[in-house]
Amino acid sequence: MAKARTLWYCSNCGNESSKWMGQCPACKEWNTMVEAPVPNSSSKRAVMMSPASQTAPVALKDIKFDTEQRRSLGNSELDRLLGGGIVPGSLVLIGGEPGIGKSTLSLQIPLFSKGLRTLYVTGEESVRQVKMRAQRLGGDESECSILSETLLDKVLEQASQFHPELMVVDSVQTMYCENVDSTAGSVSQIKEVAARLLRYAKESGVPVILIGHITKDGFIAGPKILEHIVDVVLQFEGENKGAYRILRSIKNRFGSTSEIAVFEMSGKGLREVPNPSEMLLPMHEQGLSGTAICAILEGNRPLLFEVQALVSSAAYGTAQRSATGFDVRRLNMLLAVLERRAGFKLGAKDVFLNMAGGLKVSDPACDLAIICAVLSSNFDYSLPSDICFAAEVGLSGEIRPVAQTDRLILEASRLGFKRIFISSYAAIEAAAGADIEIVRISDVASLVKTLFR
Ligand code: TYD
Ligand code: MG
Repeated sequence: MAKARTLWYCSNCGNESSKWMGQCPACKEWNTMVEAPVPNSSSKRAVMMSPASQTAPVALKDIKFDTEQRRSLGNSELDRLLGGGIVPGSLVLIGGEPGIGKSTLSLQIPLFSKGLRTLYVTGEESVRQVKMRAQRLGGDESECSILSETLLDKVLEQASQFHPELMVVDSVQTMYCENVDSTAGSVSQIKEVAARLLRYAKESGVPVILIGHITKDGFIAGPKILEHIVDVVLQFEGENKGAYRILRSIKNRFGSTSEIAVFEMSGKGLREVPNPSEMLLPMHEQGLSGTAICAILEGNRPLLFEVQALVSSAAYGTAQRSATGFDVRRLNMLLAVLERRAGFKLGAKDVFLNMAGGLKVSDPACDLAIICAVLSSNFDYSLPSDICFAAEVGLSGEIRPVAQTDRLILEASRLGFKRIFISSYAAIEAAAGADIEIVRISDVASLVKTLFR
C-alpha cells in the first residue's frame, strides 16, 4: 500500500511545507511545525470563494450590492464591531481562551436577535447543557435549534435541510471531516472544517459564526491558521477572572478593525457596556499619585482610561522596566525623553506601568498621560482628578497633536472632565466651544513647569 502523503504545517501561521523545519520560514517561530496527512479532497478546491456559476468576469458597476442586507444580531456592541450587523454569507471567527465567554455570547445571539432562525451546533456540550445555559440567559428560545454533533458532514447535511438564517459552530477544534485522516483539532482538520464552512456560507448565503479556542501560550493549532480563511476575526481579550471582557476586531473584510466592544459577565450572561470609559475610569474621587487619565481613539471611538505608574528606587543594581498593556520599548523611550529634555534622572529607578482594565494600548496618544503618571509617582504628587491628557511625545520632547483631538475633547467634556492637556499644534474646530478648559502644551519641559512646579 502506498504510504499516505503528509505535509508539515506551522501551528502559528499555517504555513505549509513538504518537510520538517525547526523554524517556520514564514513567521520565524521555532518548533511550530506539525505533521499532518494531506486531505483527500484538495482543500484548495474547498477554499473557493464563490459559487462555481460565477466564474465569468462581471463589470464592477453591474454588481448589485445592497448595504441593507446586513442582519442585526440583537446585540448593539457586537453589531457595531462587525460594522453594522452580520453580512450574509460571511464566516466570522470568535476566538479566546477557554472560559472567557465565547459560548455564552454566541448563544445569546439567537436568544436576543428577535427572530433570526438559528442553528446552534455544539460539539462540546449536550443539548441539555445548552438548554440549561439558555434558561440562565433568558430571552426568546423559539427561533433557536440545537444540534449536538461533531461530524461536519452531518452538520452540513442538517443545515441544508434546516435552512437557517444564521449558523453557530462551537467549536472548530471539536469538528472533524471524514475525508481527513487525523484527529479533530489537528491542523489539517481545522483547515478543512473552516474551508468547508466557508464554502457553505458563500454558497448558501447563511452567515456562520465559528468559535475557536486559543490557549494562553500562543495559538496552538487553531485560530491563527484560520485568520487567512475567515472573513472576520473577533478575539476576546482580558482576564477571564475579572468581570469585564473586551472583544476586539482583528480582521474584518466588511468593516474597520481595531474596534473594541466591552462586555460585563453577569449572572445572566454577557451584558453590553456601551460606554467603556465609565468602567475604565477610576472609582476614587481624590486623585492618587502615579495615575493620569488618558484620552485615545480606540478604533473609531473615543476612550478614556487610567494610566498607572509606579516609580521606586531600584532594589538591585539594574533598574527594572515593566509595562502591562503597553510596549515596554516605548516606555523606555519616554523615560529617555524625560531624562534628556526635562532633566529627570530615572536611570536608577524601577518603573512599572499599567493600563487600567486589562486594556492593551498601542496608540501614541497616551504618551503624555504616561509621562504625567510617571512624574506623579516620582514626586508622590497626585494630579487633580478632573484633568486628562491627549497627546503624543516626540523624541526631542515636543508634544505632538493626535488624530481627531476634537472628538477626544468632546468626550472628555461629556464625562465631566474640567481640563484637557493637548498639543499646542493641534487644530481644533468642533470642540472650540466645549465646556472644558483646553490647555495647550508645546514641550515636556513646559509641561513639568505647568503641572509639577
Ligand atoms: P463560556 O461561554 O462557557 O466560555 P467559553 O465558551 O469561552 O469557554 O463561559 C464561561 C464562563 O462564564 C463560566 O466560567 C461561567 C461564566 N458565566 C457567567 O458568569 N454567567 C452566565 O450567565 C454564564 C452563562 C456563564
Ligand atoms: Mg465554550
